[in-house]
Amino acid sequence: MSLIFRRKPLGRLLADTEKPEHQLRRTLGPVQLTLLGIGAIVGAGIFSTVGTAAAGGANHIGAGPALAISFVMVAVACGFAALCYAEFAAMVPVAGSAYTYAYATLGELVAWLIGWDLILEYAVSNAAVAISWSGYFQELLRGFGVVIPPWLGTDYRSALQATALVAQTAAEGGDLTALAAGILRDAEALKTAPHVLGLPIVFNLPAFGIVAVITWITLIGIRETARANSTLAIAKLAIIAFFIVLGAFYVKPENWTPFAPNGFHGISSAAAIIFFAYIGFDAVSTASEEARNPQRDMPISIIGSLVVCTLIYVAVALVLTGMADWKTLGNSEPLAAVFRTLDMNWTAGIIAFGAVLATTSALLPFQVGQTRIFFAMARDGLLPAWAAKVHPKWRTPHITTILTGVFVAAFSSLANIAELVELTNIGTLWAFILVAVGVLILRRTDPRRPRPFRVPWVPWVPLLAVGCCLFLMFRLPWITWVWFAGWMSAGLLIYLTFGRHRSRLREAAA
Ligand code: ALA
Repeated sequence: MSLIFRRKPLGRLLADTEKPEHQLRRTLGPVQLTLLGIGAIVGAGIFSTVGTAAAGGANHIGAGPALAISFVMVAVACGFAALCYAEFAAMVPVAGSAYTYAYATLGELVAWLIGWDLILEYAVSNAAVAISWSGYFQELLRGFGVVIPPWLGTDYRSALQATALVAQTAAEGGDLTALAAGILRDAEALKTAPHVLGLPIVFNLPAFGIVAVITWITLIGIRETARANSTLAIAKLAIIAFFIVLGAFYVKPENWTPFAPNGFHGISSAAAIIFFAYIGFDAVSTASEEARNPQRDMPISIIGSLVVCTLIYVAVALVLTGMADWKTLGNSEPLAAVFRTLDMNWTAGIIAFGAVLATTSALLPFQVGQTRIFFAMARDGLLPAWAAKVHPKWRTPHITTILTGVFVAAFSSLANIAELVELTNIGTLWAFILVAVGVLILRRTDPRRPRPFRVPWVPWVPLLAVGCCLFLMFRLPWITWVWFAGWMSAGLLIYLTFGRHRSRLREAAA
């Protein structure tokens, strides 16, 4: 029993990375790492989920213009967590992020559970981002008169929900043309879908396609990945700057009153959703084994990318809610739609194009991060050994890269974005909590180990990180908790039947 609480000594963690057959290339500097962070952070969150966060769902319990406050609130929460990540990432520059840190501090069982939980943050979130990418991509194609058949452009659940909504509206004698264009398209999907063995085929082809391309890029090497990512990250910062500067001219201050129409309730509900927009600063830490000088550069790039993104988000929130009545922003492409309502179709098109770039760039680091976490787990024996193999030429863990690609592509082509976002958020918040607790534990159990970066005001900062994350978790719907509990229970079962018996640490002990 005590074996499952066995911890992997930090010295051994570092030594494992020195074995040539497990070595990744150390090529990334601080600028590339910060851009990797920004690349991961700015994506579907700011381009898609802000709309619902500002306007709320059907009942309009959104943040309204106070969305800017939601962003600051979540930034503070993430800031506490980021400091904890930075202490670990600088001290343990080993691939695997929170999984690796937990193995060193909280023991094998918790480490496994975190590794399993991180699949929600990396692979499941990427499936959500790919769906958002697909939405903007189709929007862009429509601008050029190219229309993908509805059954090849959405998922079965969204099609089912849209069909139900259309049927209900028709039964109540409502005006079908008042429904959003996206809803009508999704409802078309079920009507026009071909059938195989009596089952309708509804499948998000663009989402599947973009994941295939991203998988290929991550397969051929981290340096190529970082280069593609830096370019994309800079491009999307430019497009967001474009939105902010141009949009500022169309702000009508009266749209900002009342500033917080639903009070703290609206602000905090929005915060639990737009948390998604911040996920990613920790992805930098998964690249620490590929950093040239992790001790100095990890903290700089993690905190740096978080600060830059917060400034951008607050500006976007203020401009967006200043341009239109907050109640009208509830759609999946608010930044483009707000210009379209001003009849500025060209500007809307440029923003849609920018969103496609932005979400592409958000996909890359997560895809890399997920494979590195699987890689670290396999190196520890908690996953089968073939998952830790590094390709002789590309020096990337090719088998996990391909498997991750297949998993994400399958999810993104078949699942529903809103549910994936909530599941991602709960899983990520949980990982943040465990990292913060890990910092506290390691300060006690190994106080003398050199810490190139130290979290200030311990224990308060880690405790505040835990408190803020718990608060945001409790703002998520109960069904998300049910999914989360199911997912974690499945992970526990797999550990007890497989990982526990194959663990390298266990072998060494035997
Ligand atoms: N933060 C990432 C995004 O918004 C996950 O796409």
